[in-house]
Amino acid sequence: MGNASDYDKVGSTYVATRRPDPRLAATLREALGDVTSVVNIGAGSGAYEPTDLDVVAVEPSRVMIDQRPAGAAPAILGSAEGLPLDDHSVDAALAVLTVHHWSDLRRAWTEIRRVVRERAVFLTFDPAAPPFWLTRDYLPQIRELDAARLPPLSVFESLGAVEVRPLPIPHDCTDGFLAAFWRRPTAYLDPTVQANISAFVALEPSTRRRGLDALRRDLENGSWASANRDLLTAETLDAGYRIVACTLMPTAERPSPGHQHCASASSARVRSGERRVG
Ligand SMILES: C[S@@+](CC[C@H](N)C(=O)[O-])C[C@H]1O[C@@H](n2cnc3c(N)ncnc32)[C@H](O)[C@@H]1O
Repeated sequence: MGNASDYDKVGSTYVATRRPDPRLAATLREALGDVTSVVNIGAGSGAYEPTDLDVVAVEPSRVMIDQRPAGAAPAILGSAEGLPLDDHSVDAALAVLTVHHWSDLRRAWTEIRRVVRERAVFLTFDPAAPPFWLTRDYLPQIRELDAARLPPLSVFESLGAVEVRPLPIPHDCTDGFLAAFWRRPTAYLDPTVQANISAFVALEPSTRRRGLDALRRDLENGSWASANRDLLTAETLDAGYRIVACTLMPTAERPSPGHQHCASASSARVRSGERRVG
């Protein structure tokens, strides 16, 4: 999945296996800190949008926007490379498991710095992190794909001062991203789980089939359990997910401090000509 329309093709069952995990939501909310307004970029179906903040969602896929729950924050069709919002109009940006889909990070950074006054919080994956058993033993091709699309953590430093925190994944994580099922290996054999993990979708079908056939065989004959005995009682795993919180560099054009915390209605921040669709 590499461009905006991809999730229109593959995202139709997203919410079946990608339910926001409340523990991850609490950590992301804490990372946003003391802000009032947030743009959720690559918002998908609205996971992790804080309900106590003034949120506007930006998302390129109509299919994803259509899965937002009733009562969710307003959503606008758009992308990170062209945020449909006014200059300096929100306190913070949130971007969860999306930055590896962005086609032009340089433009996205420029857009974030144009629109956002204070902070940008990303949930991303460190491409330099050691692999977990799935990408080490069964589908190493995912690591090659990820190396090509995941930005190294140093790339975030051009946005501002960066704080990186590991995000350990609970063994019963409700959000079915790549490593979410690290203690529930049979889940990876489920076609709906696979369909909602972009790395699986990006694999050659024959490569995916070979890796998953090997996993099925090892689950059936007990080799997986013997090789991963230590994981079976672990509560969380550091699988390489990182919260990257950037305090944006000040720019000459930023509004005076008096404007900085004024919470405007969501519709007032939207660039003229842009339309709420969700
Ligand atoms: C894995 S989903 C994550 C969705 C949501 N943030 C979540 O945590 O459930 C990735 C999302 O990034 C979106 N996306 C793809 N390219 C994008 C771009 N250039 N700008 C913004 N979002 C993009 C996709 O449409 C998709 O909704």
